[in-house]
Amino acid sequence: MIDVVWVHGLGLDRRMWDGLSPGLAGVARVHAEDLPGFGDSRLPPLRTVDAMADAVRAQVDRLGGARFVLGGLSMGGYVVLAYLRRHGAERPPAGLVLFDTRAEADGPEARRGRDETAALIRAEGDLEAYALRMMPRLVSPAAAPRASMAVRSMIAAQPVESVAVASLALRDRADSTAVLGAIRVPTLVACGEDDAITPPEGMRALAAAIPGARFALVAGAGHVAPMERPGECSALVRDFLSGAS
Ligand code: MLT
Repeated sequence: MIDVVWVHGLGLDRRMWDGLSPGLAGVARVHAEDLPGFGDSRLPPLRTVDAMADAVRAQVDRLGGARFVLGGLSMGGYVVLAYLRRHGAERPPAGLVLFDTRAEADGPEARRGRDETAALIRAEGDLEAYALRMMPRLVSPAAAPRASMAVRSMIAAQPVESVAVASLALRDRADSTAVLGAIRVPTLVACGEDDAITPPEGMRALAAAIPGARFALVAGAGHVAPMERPGECSALVRDFLSGAS
């Protein structure tokens, strides 16, 4: 059995991976932790994506010398790529899973959007309205109401300051495109077919830039594919792991 370390997306927490665990039973030992500031973490939020990658390195170190696959969704994918830049030579993963993410840094418009988001949610004082605003971009129109509710309530439950600080960390993240061509481990790139934030064209290009990467489209899912279609996503990961381990 191989260890799988999952890194969650912005405004989400470790629970976003819960739906994948039953399908991975017997194949993987799953390690999903809250990044500092999210979920049940009582630590202050981290101000850079590189610091998040360092937190993942500390988590990996707690596994001892075990072989592990590193996977992330969206912000979690940015963290995975930052991990490769910072720690990949010293403590390389045996495989990668990239859900609904990108390697490029934010452009000027996206950076302005991060500033506006951080200012707005700080002014609003909670994440109820933010979660509601985000929903049409986060989930597919085909998402089950139960999945949509789970995404929305998970976001609304996070501390405002953690999402504000993480938004500014994403604003300032480094471009990771240079690491893609150097990846030498089996990689699964998976994207919700209705993902409006990191759409399939970009994800296909991401997969094409990674030697030997496998690309998979998740039907009927948006940006938070593992929460919207957990059965399909865990089957994809299970199949990938049986080839990667
Ligand atoms: C996420 O889901 O982590 C965010 O959509 C990432 C982002 O805003 O770039």
